[in-house]
Amino acid sequence: MRKNIVAGNWKMNTTLPEGIKLAEEVNDALKAVEPKCDVVICVPFTHLASVNGVITETKKLGLGAENCADHKSGAYTGEVSAAMVASTGAGYVILGHSERRQYYGETAETLREKVALSLENGLTPIFCIGEVLEEREAGKHFDVVKAQVEDGLFNLSAEDFGKIILAYEPVWAIGTGKTATSDQAEEIHAYIRGVIADKYGKEVADNTSILYGGSCKPSNAAELFAKPNVDGGLIGGASLKCADFMGIVNAF
Ligand code: 13P
Repeated sequence: MRKNIVAGNWKMNTTLPEGIKLAEEVNDALKAVEPKCDVVICVPFTHLASVNGVITETKKLGLGAENCADHKSGAYTGEVSAAMVASTGAGYVILGHSERRQYYGETAETLREKVALSLENGLTPIFCIGEVLEEREAGKHFDVVKAQVEDGLFNLSAEDFGKIILAYEPVWAIGTGKTATSDQAEEIHAYIRGVIADKYGKEVADNTSILYGGSCKPSNAAELFAKPNVDGGLIGGASLKCADFMGIVNAF
């Protein structure tokens, strides 16, 4: 069966010393508990190797990057390849975050390359989808997320699709304090699972973890995670404070 997962997305926050300290705090906090979910922290590229070095709770705490390049290697100044990410000890990579789609022009085509390279290098993609406010208000959110899943992932074999974690993040809820209600999350997560079932069958769909992201915090996590199709969260702001992040982890 699918896993419950709480993953932090630190985005462009923390200097290296601050990031190491935060990772140490999360690692220490996990020593004291038996989380009912997998826990992952996704950190800036510059922090990966050092943060990997301070994680001792390797069974409880995974490490991920926030992006990777759409090319294998070579003359792509400033880019970081999936192989480089994997070589730090990271096991996950966030792909297609709305901030990358919006500010850095990521398209389904580049994302398909990134997904393929991540899988080749043994990384688990956390693949983000989600509509903007105007799309929701126009009632187009179902079509938008369906197209994002189809265009970014449906080139994969069922076996490879089974390695993907999905994160539904309505753009209007990211960093705004405005969370989707648990019913809104459940409705669209169930719909996404149906889209997967139509393509790959019920078993693959049932085994896919679909996380919710967007102003998820300790006070609303339990209600969101109680929904049958919400398998955890991708956490931005609240992942930057150990106590808040652990509050969300312990909501399971
Ligand atoms: P916030 O939790 O800060 O709203 O961010 C969500 C997000 O974008 C995680 O990827």
